[in-house]
Amino acid sequence: MSAPYRVGIVGCGAISRNHLEAFAAIPQATVVAVCDVDAGRARETAARWGIDGAFGSVEEILAAGVDVVSVCTPHPTHEAVVLAAAAAGAHVLCEKPIAIDLASAERMVAACDAAGVRLGVLFQRRFWPAAQRLRAAVDDGALGRPILGHASVLLHREPEYYSGAAGTGTAWRGTWATDGGGVLMTQAIHYIDLLQWLMGEVVEVHGHAATFTHAIEVEDTAAAVLRFASGAMATLSATTAAAPSLGVSIRITGETGATAELTEFPEGTDGRVTVLAQGGAVESEPAHPAGVDPDVDLAAINGQLIPHHTAQIRDFVGALGEGRAPAVTGHDATAALRILLAVYESSRTGRPVRLTPTAPEQTA
Ligand SMILES: NC(=O)c1ccc[n+]([C@@H]2O[C@H](COP(=O)([O-])OP(=O)(O)OC[C@H]3O[C@@H](n4cnc5c(N)ncnc54)[C@H](O)[C@@H]3O)[C@@H](O)[C@H]2O)c1
Repeated sequence: MSAPYRVGIVGCGAISRNHLEAFAAIPQATVVAVCDVDAGRARETAARWGIDGAFGSVEEILAAGVDVVSVCTPHPTHEAVVLAAAAAGAHVLCEKPIAIDLASAERMVAACDAAGVRLGVLFQRRFWPAAQRLRAAVDDGALGRPILGHASVLLHREPEYYSGAAGTGTAWRGTWATDGGGVLMTQAIHYIDLLQWLMGEVVEVHGHAATFTHAIEVEDTAAAVLRFASGAMATLSATTAAAPSLGVSIRITGETGATAELTEFPEGTDGRVTVLAQGGAVESEPAHPAGVDPDVDLAAINGQLIPHHTAQIRDFVGALGEGRAPAVTGHDATAALRILLAVYESSRTGRPVRLTPTAPEQTA
């Protein structure tokens, strides 16, 4: 085996653990440096994981010589890190959302293309076996071309999640400037991505977003109708004001008449196919099994995502070796961002928003 890719992780907060665990499970890559604007946090992380390099900035990580940069910082800071990494010739794996505005996302994709480096963005829920099963049911014709979809995202966040108290988050959440949005930008974006992955490109969005129960600037609740290039349609409802959480369900009906529903309950557990109705038979299991605590602590939610982060990061590292595009590209992440930004615009104007079709992606 050739020498493992040298990886630097930028941002040592909550989600960095998923990246550290994932890379630890992948022999083709080794984390050689971490950094955080809180240099003490970088030092603690490096000491805990036996990593030599602990720095205060991405520039120092790049100067140490890395092939791959993992970006685990708050959303609006992603762009500067990605541009610095691309300029230094490092491949980039960026946490979702890619950015909080479209121009920023487009600059990131363009910079990586121009530098000839790969850009992957974390949408690890695509790697659930159940999500792959839904995708196979679309691809192999069991569902046929999707005609109707639904994503229901009914989550619970404590006030401390937004205020940054009690170690359940940091103070950047909940404002337009530092978070860029609420439930759509941070939680529902995963399921918007699943809808576009299963149903194709979204060309029109009509929606509403509002803040009902949390003391935040950004929305805690949103509803939208999406229309796809194929003519198919889907509805989306999302909130962080549910108590207790009812988790997530994604439902797709195809033109064969078959329907599949995938459920994530409690939040953070692997998605399960709970309904599969095809060929005259209906297989179903309860979406909300009895006796389960529906409200899971955020650290436990992130912990349960580790196998799926690992699967996506393994794909990314494999893509580097094989000279192919990763499973989730900057282009895909930009498309998901466009959809949720259109919900904000539609909510502001009271009108549907038309999305112009995107140029096909270069995948070679
Ligand atoms: N894929 C998922 O399911 C998932 C889950 C949780 C978080 N995330 C994403 O990961 C990102 C980070 O979220 P988090 O919950 O870990 O946040 P966090 O606040 O726990 O950690 C962010 C860390 O980045 C550091 N930081 C801020 N700016 C920096 C910079 N310019 N350079 C270096 N370090 C910097 C902070 O000091 C902090 O330690 C967000 O974009 C979030 O959406 C993704």
